[in-house]
Amino acid sequence: MIATASRTENALIQHESDTASPRHLLDIDSLSSADILSLIGRAEEMRRVITQRSLKLNNLQGRSIFLLFFENSTRTCVSFERAGKTLGADIINVSIARSSVEKGESLLNTVRTLNAMAPDGLVVRHPCAGASNFVARHVDAPVINAGDGSHAHPTQALLDVMTLTIKLGSISGAKIAIVGDILHSRVARSDIIAFTRMGAEVVLAGPATLIPSIWRQARTGPATRGRNNVPAPKVHVCETLSEALSGADVIMPLRLQIERQKNGMLPGLTEYSRVWRINADRVAMASPDALVMHPGPMNEGIEISTEVAHGGSSLIEEQVTNGVAMRMAVLERYCRNG
Ligand code: NCD
Repeated sequence: MIATASRTENALIQHESDTASPRHLLDIDSLSSADILSLIGRAEEMRRVITQRSLKLNNLQGRSIFLLFFENSTRTCVSFERAGKTLGADIINVSIARSSVEKGESLLNTVRTLNAMAPDGLVVRHPCAGASNFVARHVDAPVINAGDGSHAHPTQALLDVMTLTIKLGSISGAKIAIVGDILHSRVARSDIIAFTRMGAEVVLAGPATLIPSIWRQARTGPATRGRNNVPAPKVHVCETLSEALSGADVIMPLRLQIERQKNGMLPGLTEYSRVWRINADRVAMASPDALVMHPGPMNEGIEISTEVAHGGSSLIEEQVTNGVAMRMAVLERYCRNG
C-alpha cells in the first residue's frame, strides 16, 4: 500500500513541479541561501513583536488569507493563524471537516470556489505530495505549502534553520544528525535541503526500511539536479546511531509515523525505541553542548525520552516560537502584494 501511494505521489510531484514559481512557497528549493538569511533576519524582528504580547502590526491589513488544512495540525495551523493575525490580516480557517470536501467535492473544484472569493494568499496542507503545486496552478493568489504528503514542509525548514542560526551564529560546518523515520518525513526532506544549502553537514540514521534510497545515492555526490539546476544535497547515511551521534552538534529525532508502519517496516515499537530513542546517554555521545530539536508532534518515550525533550539541551519550544515569527516573515513576503 505504501509503495503504491509513493509512486502516485512521485508522479504528481514530477508533473506539477515544472510549474513552480517563486511567487509561491512550495518547496525550499526555490530559495537561495541569501533568501533564507533575509527571511531569518525579518523573522528575528517579528519575534520581538510576538514576544511583546499586546503588539500588533498592520503590514497585511485588509488582506484575506485562507488556511486550508486537509490534514490534522496543531502547531503549524495555529502558528500561521497567529502569524497572520499579528500582521493584521483576516485569517479564514477553512474547516475541511465542515466543507463540501466531505460531500465529495474535488480538490480542483474546492480551490476554484475559494479562488472566486479573491483570497490574497492560501496556506495549504494536504496528505498528497504535490497538492500545493496543484493548487498553485489553479489560483491567482500566492500559495504557501504547509506540508504535502512526504514531499516538503518549507516553513518548518526555515524555522529550523532560524532556530539553529540564532543559537549557533551560523550553521555552516555544524554536524546535524537526523534520526528515525526519514522515509515518511517531509520535514526531513526540506530540512536536508535547507541545512546543506546553509553549509551544514547532515547525517541520517534509522532503520534501513525507513531511509529512502535516494539519500544513500546522494552520499557519493550529486545524483540528480533540482528544478533550479542545483546539485542534490550531499548527506551521509550512517549504519549505526553511534556513528551519527559522534561529534554531532545537533540531534533531531523525528516522529515515528506510527500510522504508516503497517507493512512490517519495523519489528515493533519496543525494539524501535530500544535501538533509536534519543535519551540522555545518547545525547552524551554527541558534542559536549549538543542541541536537540524535534519538529513535533512527539511520541515521547518512543523516539525521544521525556528528560531530553524537556531538558536543558532541548530547543523544541524555541522552534515553536520561531515558527510563528518565521511564518510572519513568510506571509509578509509572499502575501503583501498578492
Ligand atoms: C510534522 C508534519 O506534519 O509534517 N510536524 C509539523 O508540521 N511540525 C511532522 C509529523 O507529522 O511528524
